[in-house]
Amino acid sequence: SLRYTTQNEPILEYRRGSKEVQQVQAALDEYKSKVTRIPCIVDGEEVWTKNIQKQVLPFDHKHVLAEYCYADGALLQKAINSAVKNQYKWDLMPIEQRANIFLKAADLAADSKWRSRLLATTMLGQGKTVFQAEIDAACELIDFWRFNAQHLASALAYQPISTRDSDNIYSHRGLEGFVAAISPFNFTAIGGNLASTPALMGNTVLWKPSDTALLSNYVVYRILEEAGLPPGIIQFVPSQGEEFGRKITQSPNLAAITFTGSTKTFKTLWKWMADNLDNYRTFPRLVGECGGKNFHLVHPTADLTTVVYGTIRSAFEYSGQKCSACSRVYIPRSLSKEFFSQMKTIMSKQLRIDTPLKFETFTSAVIDRASFNRIKAYIDYARSSSSTKILVGGEYDDSTGYYVQPTLIETTDPKDKLMKEEIFGPVVTVYVYDDDKFDETVDLVDDTSNYALTGSIFCQNKQILEQTRQRLINAAGNLYLNDKSTGSVVNQQPFGGARLSGTNDKAGGPHYLFRFSSPLAVKNMK
Ligand code: SER
Repeated sequence: SLRYTTQNEPILEYRRGSKEVQQVQAALDEYKSKVTRIPCIVDGEEVWTKNIQKQVLPFDHKHVLAEYCYADGALLQKAINSAVKNQYKWDLMPIEQRANIFLKAADLAADSKWRSRLLATTMLGQGKTVFQAEIDAACELIDFWRFNAQHLASALAYQPISTRDSDNIYSHRGLEGFVAAISPFNFTAIGGNLASTPALMGNTVLWKPSDTALLSNYVVYRILEEAGLPPGIIQFVPSQGEEFGRKITQSPNLAAITFTGSTKTFKTLWKWMADNLDNYRTFPRLVGECGGKNFHLVHPTADLTTVVYGTIRSAFEYSGQKCSACSRVYIPRSLSKEFFSQMKTIMSKQLRIDTPLKFETFTSAVIDRASFNRIKAYIDYARSSSSTKILVGGEYDDSTGYYVQPTLIETTDPKDKLMKEEIFGPVVTVYVYDDDKFDETVDLVDDTSNYALTGSIFCQNKQILEQTRQRLINAAGNLYLNDKSTGSVVNQQPFGGARLSGTNDKAGGPHYLFRFSSPLAVKNMK
């Protein structure tokens, strides 16, 4: 029988001098003092190819953290063959037994040895502060493993009607073929979820982790292995993006893609799948969580302190590199002066931008040169455009790490590209509206962007709050009332967006699992 989880993994505090800090520090020291070598793992075998890559520290890019290799076409084919071969047997394993592997993985990750490794590799490789690493690589990862097993239990609870003549049985199978999991750099837990959840449902997986999250994702793989995941169920295949995408979409055995990343890449995968549609043995499923242009909409009745701290945290924690990060704010003229003044004070006096290895750092460098250049281009645009003004920040420096200062911009054009396009960095743009134009502003929030991932409404008038919520139901997959737009918790706010933000299958929710199930209905005559 399945263990039933009712509580989220508690967030540990990392206080100076505590046992927790010492453990993480020891893991940081260890990973910093060596270059970890990461193989591909196909059918349970470690394989090296000639295409060697390096993962560096984003906040100190001369420091090589890990060396890994890209799976080439032949190795990817081997991984596909192994996944296809192993799927049937894995699927026949009793579902509870499969679930127990992931529950064991959760217990291992919750324990100090693996927890501190997960934290250290996420802090070093992805530039997260200890708190950001804890809520991601420990708590969220553990919660995904535990709650998906719980959701599985509810799936098994459904029984069809049997009659006098027949027993009717309904059961879940994995998808015949293989599932490709393509995961992002910004959450270690997302890699874990994308690779594990299809496997929990009886699928075999080709996991392509992000180049810039390699080491932490490798630690996740090792935890699964220690928890008893048999060889050849999840194939760990770092690879060059286009090569991987072409290879999986050209395979007749592709059963599903689960993807978190940019809208553009997701569309490309969709097109490549369409090009290969006549070759498939089934209709491959697509599960995607893509970009966002997340809003904070502030009503004149809002509590300003909540808005200010919420915006600081949502826009600038992890340097705005969460899919959920706030990047456009609508503020009424009556609150704007005080809003800008408080934002300026906090941003210039309280936010420490430094290496994430100092535990008092608020945020650190962005992930890599491509991100740095993209964000820099938006800041340069803001500096040169007549409708926008940089109020705080706007500096960047990539001499040691990819540092971009948290940046606050005001625009007089509510349809400016800074209000529309995803920047994925520590940049937030504010539009000041006239207090009597709140209704028009709600329309603007809805119309300006094609994304619908997260959004927040700050308003103390209950009736207006409810009306606004109703008007914005399609503008976000995760809507927050009087709270910041980031920080969804597994099984509290299942996470995902609509419109161009993705297929809205809600990671951490009860339905995600079923995207990877191909149910079987059996009529058995008495
Ligand atoms: N789930 C994360 C958050 O809500 C984003 O991926 O912040």
